Amino acid sequence: VKQKDPRTHLREANAPGTKLSATAAAPTRVAILGFGTVGSSVAQLISAQKKNGVRITHVFNRGVARKRVAWMSRDVIWTERFEDLLSPEVDVIIELVGNVELAHRWISRALIAGKHVITANKQLIARHGGELVALAQQHSCRIAYGAAVGGVVPVIPAILEGLAADSFHRISGILNGTCNYVLSRMERARIAMPEAIAEAQVRGYTESDPTSDLDGEDAAAKLVILAAIAMQRLITPEQVRRQSIRTIDPVDFDYARMIGCTIRQISYAELNGKHLIAAVQPALVALDSPFAVAHGSDNLIAVYGKHSGRLLFAGAGAGGDPTAVAVLSDLLAIRRGHSPAAHNAMSTTEVRGDLGSRHYLRFVVKDRPGIVAGIAAVLARYRINIDALMQSSGHPAARLPFVITTEKSPADKVADAVKEIAKARYHVQPPLNLPVLDSL
Ligand SMILES: NC(=O)c1ccc[n+]([C@@H]2O[C@H](COP(=O)([O-])OP(=O)(O)OC[C@H]3O[C@@H](n4cnc5c(N)ncnc54)[C@H](OP(=O)(O)O)[C@@H]3O)[C@@H](O)[C@H]2O)c1
Repeated sequence: VKQKDPRTHLREANAPGTKLSATAAAPTRVAILGFGTVGSSVAQLISAQKKNGVRITHVFNRGVARKRVAWMSRDVIWTERFEDLLSPEVDVIIELVGNVELAHRWISRALIAGKHVITANKQLIARHGGELVALAQQHSCRIAYGAAVGGVVPVIPAILEGLAADSFHRISGILNGTCNYVLSRMERARIAMPEAIAEAQVRGYTESDPTSDLDGEDAAAKLVILAAIAMQRLITPEQVRRQSIRTIDPVDFDYARMIGCTIRQISYAELNGKHLIAAVQPALVALDSPFAVAHGSDNLIAVYGKHSGRLLFAGAGAGGDPTAVAVLSDLLAIRRGHSPAAHNAMSTTEVRGDLGSRHYLRFVVKDRPGIVAGIAAVLARYRINIDALMQSSGHPAARLPFVITTEKSPADKVADAVKEIAKARYHVQPPLNLPVLDSL
């Protein structure tokens, strides 16, 4: 359904005539809302780059007394009252708190008060981005969210500006640094997932509760934002098919390697006729693809332009300092009064999760004769063709992992077949079903 709805703008709102001038005599006055990992890095970067024409006026945080730092200018007002940030002394509010409801309320009030807003809050933009951009336009302000996807990787400004002349039909990416750290550590260090997650926590790549990273919520929000700005499709994070990476075992990397692959969390969106395919899931990717080469907390995003072909963007997807660069770059763009072409038409669309790929099915069984024949019979009944069967030696018969790969098959059909196979009593753990993405 094609609709023109101002609430659905998911673009940087750069209404002409917004109030900010970049002159040496008039520094841009900035309030930082949330002084945590990214907020303090942004403040440090602004303080270190004295010539950028930006001055911090306020820092807002709960329990703000414990947040004070000696390196900040003594003129800065440290506050727990949001209303202080609406002072005429503030031009731009940078939201780095992270909560969706509170951030929504605060950003709406900031825009209504005529403040430009910068945020790195992907969940907020995925859910309320269109409405907030429209509000910014109504009040002749701008809202920018370049740090919401890809950390420092400038994929949002690239799509909005550098590639504005093209249209995009496919995006695939590693959009969550935590999952990439966990999976690439399992691959390289031969460690189990809990150990890799604990390492990611120690390094500050994930929070004490890593659910949103591991189960795909974080990447789904980023995919929603990319689908909006690159494909003008308005979808919700809940419409994105999601599969957790928690079920991956170290043995899966051995079997994946046997067919020239490794495993990464892949976010994928593709326009296919009238509908959009959108999924976030662990998937097998070819060892010679750029996705396999992305290690640690890196992000890698491929966008496919009608005329430009495939473009790759890669770099640090998380971390205070890299994310602060993206935030400050948004701020400098606003300070310059930079205006990428506004985009208005946005379509809602039917969403499917089927990538129509080959599948990797891993079973861990208590060995006895007839298991493979039984599984093959179920797959045959669902008209799913087997491509290969792999069983490496050295595993105990009481806990024997083996793998079947299929030819290209509809995901729902494979899921139904696996559900039926999973009912058998010989399984030691539930079967694993992953897509094999040959052509990313
Ligand atoms: N960290 C990254 O690598 C990264 C990368 C890209 C985007 N982002 C996004 O950037 C935003 C900030 O992330 P972060 O990692 O900097 O988070 P963080 O370290 O948890 O910082 C959030 C800050 O906001 C404060 N805060 C939270 N709730 C509050 C409330 N109700 N009232 C007042 N202050 C409150 C926290 O105070 P307390 O100290 O009291 O908790 C903390 O200082 C999030 O939207 C995140 O998704 C982060």
